[in-house]
Amino acid sequence: MTSAGEVEVTLTAAGTPAKLDADVLAVPVASGSTADQDLLALDPVAAAFVSSAEHRGRLHETLLLPAGDGAGAPRILLYGLGADSDLDGSRLRFAHQEMVRVAREYGHGRIAVLRAGPLREADLGAVIEGCVAGLWDRRARSTGPQPAALTRLVLVGFGDAPESVVDVSRRLGEATARAREWQNAPANELGPGRLESIAHELAGRLGLEFESLEGTALGTAGFSLLAAVGGASDDGPRLIRLQYRGADTGTANLALVGKGITFDSGGLTLKSRDGMVKMRGDMGGAAAVLAAIQVVAESRLPINVMAVIAAAENLPGRGAQRPGDVWKTASGKTVEVLNTDAEGRLVLADAITYAIRSGATHVVDLATLTGDARAALGHAASAAVSNDDRLWTQVAAAGVAAGDRVWRLPIYPDFRALIQSQSADLKNEFYGEAGVITAAMFIGEFVEGRPWVHLDIAGSHWNENPGHRDIPHGPLGAGTRLCYRLAELMAARSNGGDALVPS
Ligand code: BES
Ligand code: ZN
Ligand code: MN
Repeated sequence: MTSAGEVEVTLTAAGTPAKLDADVLAVPVASGSTADQDLLALDPVAAAFVSSAEHRGRLHETLLLPAGDGAGAPRILLYGLGADSDLDGSRLRFAHQEMVRVAREYGHGRIAVLRAGPLREADLGAVIEGCVAGLWDRRARSTGPQPAALTRLVLVGFGDAPESVVDVSRRLGEATARAREWQNAPANELGPGRLESIAHELAGRLGLEFESLEGTALGTAGFSLLAAVGGASDDGPRLIRLQYRGADTGTANLALVGKGITFDSGGLTLKSRDGMVKMRGDMGGAAAVLAAIQVVAESRLPINVMAVIAAAENLPGRGAQRPGDVWKTASGKTVEVLNTDAEGRLVLADAITYAIRSGATHVVDLATLTGDARAALGHAASAAVSNDDRLWTQVAAAGVAAGDRVWRLPIYPDFRALIQSQSADLKNEFYGEAGVITAAMFIGEFVEGRPWVHLDIAGSHWNENPGHRDIPHGPLGAGTRLCYRLAELMAARSNGGDALVPS
């Protein structure tokens, strides 16, 4: 089941044409501003609601009004952007996701957005991405009344952008919505097999190479960690790989590696009831890399990119691994499993070995890895750990371009002792401190010297804090747009003579 249909996106260069062919004209208001001149000229009644402070421009405050003749649509929707100075790429996109959600709630699926208030022409892409990401539907499985589907988006007064800018932003918005939908899909609907069929379908449609290792093939290739994590599920574990080739072989091949645990019960180290309820989203990394590689391929970026997914369901039961089990991994290293709930680092270790065997030159992994990432940064940013300042710089820049926040934590050699095992090379458990960093350092043991950035999206992939009334609730699709922008940046660098692969 997916709700991500295509949205028709059009630009209207200047002013408001007499007729916008939209249900509603959405007009942004920043807090602390009085009605701006554009709005005043367009619709004095709506402007009066702003100058009287009946709409104060607080983030996500909305007011739906009947429109006068000048608006070009039957309704005006005033929506708040909060303080101008707080408006970064992430807020900008979240505010537009929320605006679209509200408009759809009112039954309006053909939405025009006026460039007004603090919005600049350069914000066009962010506005499109945010609005289109708002086409995701949390009620797709409810039989009750449904909100209107987003079918048309008109951008008014953002100037004349090249069609490619509009197309990429629309695709990134759709990709974010796809990732949100996959994250949200219940585990009885989306298991490892379904993840594989989604990837297979994508590969066919986009002309990507496709490979999937499962069953005895996993064992033969030595991917014992993934096999052990998925051992108790009827829906068996899989290593899935899609390869997009946009450049010569021998040049950079960026591996986007996603944790695809379709449900994380903790295994024999069973989670509590509360710890388990949202664990259908434990494939958020896989969702992001799958959604992103589609945009890379559709946009024909001149770079090689692979998406690798470690898909498994972490359950207790017959075939489950035991705390204390020791595995010989495909990399040659041995791992003692002390906590079956620290399964993410196990499956990522195998997935990264697989990516490197398949020719990865750079590795970026995305994983809902630790509750500690959520404790540290909440929903607001993904926690990053990296062994390479240069790749990190590009990831950071991609995060800014994508409105997808990342915040780097350090690697300290002091922590190395914590991940070492008495009876094997490495152990997995709660190491006692610095949970985000130490989990990342475990994964870093498998990158074989490749430039690598780890993104822990356990906090950023899902907002479940009811205290937040002004940002989207539920799955957020974190990492999706960042992955695309990173590939785009790396493609631009390598074609500008700044070779990514030493010759
Ligand atoms: N999937 C969880 C991490 C998680 C927590 C994701 C909350 C999303 C929201 C992961 O597999 C896990 O269980 N991590 C443990 C690791 C610990 C046992 C070392 C954790 O963070 O508690
Ligand atoms: Zn997990
Ligand atoms: Mn776990």
